[in-house]
Amino acid sequence: MTDIHGIVTFYHPGLMTETRYSPAEMLGQPLWKFYREGKKEAKKIMSILKKEGRLINYELELVEKGGKVVPYLTSSILLRDDRGEIVGTLGIAKDLTEKKALERQVFQSEKLASIGMLAGGAAHEIFNPMQVILGISQLLMQKQKWDDSVIEKLKKIEDQVKRVTNIINGLRQFSHSSLQEKTMLDLNATLKEALSLIEYDFPKEGIDLIVKLDPQPLILYGDSAELIQLFVNILINARDAMPKGGRGTITTAPYINQERNWVRIVISDTGCGIPPELLPKIFDPFFTTKAAGKGTGLGLTVCHGIVKRHDGLISVESQPRQGTTFTIDLPLAT
Ligand SMILES: Nc1ncnc2c1ncn2[C@@H]1O[C@H](COP(=O)(O)OP(=O)(O)OP(=O)(O)O)[C@@H](O)[C@H]1O
Ligand SMILES: [Mg+2]
Repeated sequence: MTDIHGIVTFYHPGLMTETRYSPAEMLGQPLWKFYREGKKEAKKIMSILKKEGRLINYELELVEKGGKVVPYLTSSILLRDDRGEIVGTLGIAKDLTEKKALERQVFQSEKLASIGMLAGGAAHEIFNPMQVILGISQLLMQKQKWDDSVIEKLKKIEDQVKRVTNIINGLRQFSHSSLQEKTMLDLNATLKEALSLIEYDFPKEGIDLIVKLDPQPLILYGDSAELIQLFVNILINARDAMPKGGRGTITTAPYINQERNWVRIVISDTGCGIPPELLPKIFDPFFTTKAAGKGTGLGLTVCHGIVKRHDGLISVESQPRQGTTFTIDLPLAT
């Protein structure tokens, strides 16, 4: 509740669990101080209230205690005295973070499913002719006594075809058409295997790796080759984001949700971060900010496919210049 000047005059303590502010911290403060857009947002809200008498399900961003910006849904009405003069406002607000995250997941999955179908079909069609080109160029190289310059060109053809084939394999993997071999495995062991493949790279780049794995085995039914690839892709991205060094953290922790056992794997870095406007694009096929030849933009697309095939969820949070955190939730077998 606010007075005519937007100063908070009453604050239900129940809201504290949402915004983390206690009544004492809110009372007497102008409400706009807690809006991310500040006074501008307050003016917008007031003009709607004055025009329509009430505000229903309005989305805005609040700055929670500690500085975190969080999406909220708010509804409010104008308070009037006996003579009909406006004396203040009364409103409620609800944290939308979880709803937004779910919406994003669904949107992302649907978008990728349709791209996946298209890409899988295209990849399949391109794969065979590529094999033919590769075969013929290798045959030519063996069969004839060519000048070095011709050999060099044939080698170029071979290299480029191999490059295309790699990309195609990435697309096929993401669109389901690769073979899957699921077995019972210990996720901690799989993570250690992934780390063993790349961890020698990290100290060289001035990156400290902190690994905190849950002490008990985390058994799930999955494809270990795919899961290794998932972790390697994310860790390589983390390494690329920290060219001047930094800290990578990997944790695993089991938890229970809706009577099912899950494991949460969190991989974070202190790298360059991702600007908010690019965040919705990073799982898209061929989205890359890396220099030509450095990245194809399929790494995270493949990761998304792998997590989905394991009935899991993958999400990302990032602050430019601070770092990035990938969170993967996978259902456990036991
Ligand atoms: N940890 C991270 N920190 C900062 N940016 C990241 C991070 N992970 C991913 N990104 C951004 O997301 C983009 C897409 O990542 P993705 O792994 O799909 O492709 P890539 O790394 O560019 O190429 P590829 O993995 O195919 O070699 C990256 O180019 C980068 O801009
Ligand atoms: Mg990558």
